[in-house]
Amino acid sequence: MSTEFRSDSDILGRASLDDLDAIMDISNHDVDEVIHTVKDNADAIFTWDYEKGARPALNKLYEKAKGAQWNGETDLDWSIEVDPSQVLSALSGSNAAGPFAVLAEHPDSPFKHFGDKEWDELAVESLKWRMSQFMHGEQGALICTAKIVETVPWIDAKYYAATQVMDEARHVEVFAKYLDEKLPGTYPINAHLKMLLDDIIEDSRWDMTYLGMQIMVEGLALAAFGFMYQLTEEPLLKQLLRYVMSDEARHVAFGVLSLKEYYAELSDAEMRERQEFAFEAAVRMRDRFLQQEVWDRMGVDKRKVTELLLQVPKEEMIFQQLLFSKIVPNCKKLGLLDAADGWLRTRFEEIGVIEFEDWADTSDEYLAFDAVSADRAAAAGA
Ligand SMILES: [Fe+2]
Ligand SMILES: [Fe+2]
Repeated sequence: MSTEFRSDSDILGRASLDDLDAIMDISNHDVDEVIHTVKDNADAIFTWDYEKGARPALNKLYEKAKGAQWNGETDLDWSIEVDPSQVLSALSGSNAAGPFAVLAEHPDSPFKHFGDKEWDELAVESLKWRMSQFMHGEQGALICTAKIVETVPWIDAKYYAATQVMDEARHVEVFAKYLDEKLPGTYPINAHLKMLLDDIIEDSRWDMTYLGMQIMVEGLALAAFGFMYQLTEEPLLKQLLRYVMSDEARHVAFGVLSLKEYYAELSDAEMRERQEFAFEAAVRMRDRFLQQEVWDRMGVDKRKVTELLLQVPKEEMIFQQLLFSKIVPNCKKLGLLDAADGWLRTRFEEIGVIEFEDWADTSDEYLAFDAVSADRAAAAGA
């Protein structure tokens, strides 16, 4: 294995983290295509070692998953009427604009003429954009876990990953249905998210699918779903998110439990490659939240918004930082922060997310998230 470490420009495709031109250059050019093809470059691996439970933690997760399946058509009440402007009704005016409200006071702000009407429109568009990205990300998870079924060498992991394929199909289904029936105006996939998903799928090494999807993308999704769950009183979305999170907590645990074993055996040079991949994923996810597609749709100067946002001190971007609150402790648990002289720790300091390192990791949090079993137990006891 090569010990040539990559420079930032090799990792990110740009010389510096906040290079405005390079960030603006990344855009999705095939928004009218129905099909997008990516080479997955991997060997499909059989194992003849069928000993079930050789990895007890994965076996436990598999047994849990089998009993926690739910049906998106019948377990959610699709008869509920949804008014898009009321989905995040706890928020109004510039409060609804989340991280973008901090720009309102800036003299060059594209938002300086915004009144309540424009802020409310931004809130609805941002919601549609976020839900659309959740849907596209869920399809990424569907494809990644199907790949893991093929590529992971352990039978307990193949079994578990197979349950996750079903979970992700259900997630794509319910987000697509919610957007179609309740929140018309779906957005295409964000350019940075698309780049990240393509990179994860193209990598030939089985653990990179886990690291990219189960740890980074799903770790961020779990935090983002949690915020939206807290912010909405819309009963259909609330229940949808509650059930999706119940699955997602298992998925992140699957990543942590599998990689913990594998990473314990890797050399520093091999760990450094994983650190670089994790850092790249973190930057793509940060760039994704610049939500360039929303500015295009609203006719707002997206270059100006992006330029101003990049100037906001990282510690003021609280919402954006909190999205990393699951990722950082899980990376720590995997030994990724401090391997190779703490390379990833330094990078997470730079992007302002290291403060989460001692928050709870997700290796057994899934038991607390299990809303599906809780509801069934309550129904059986009623
Ligand atoms: Fe999912
Ligand atoms: Fe998932």
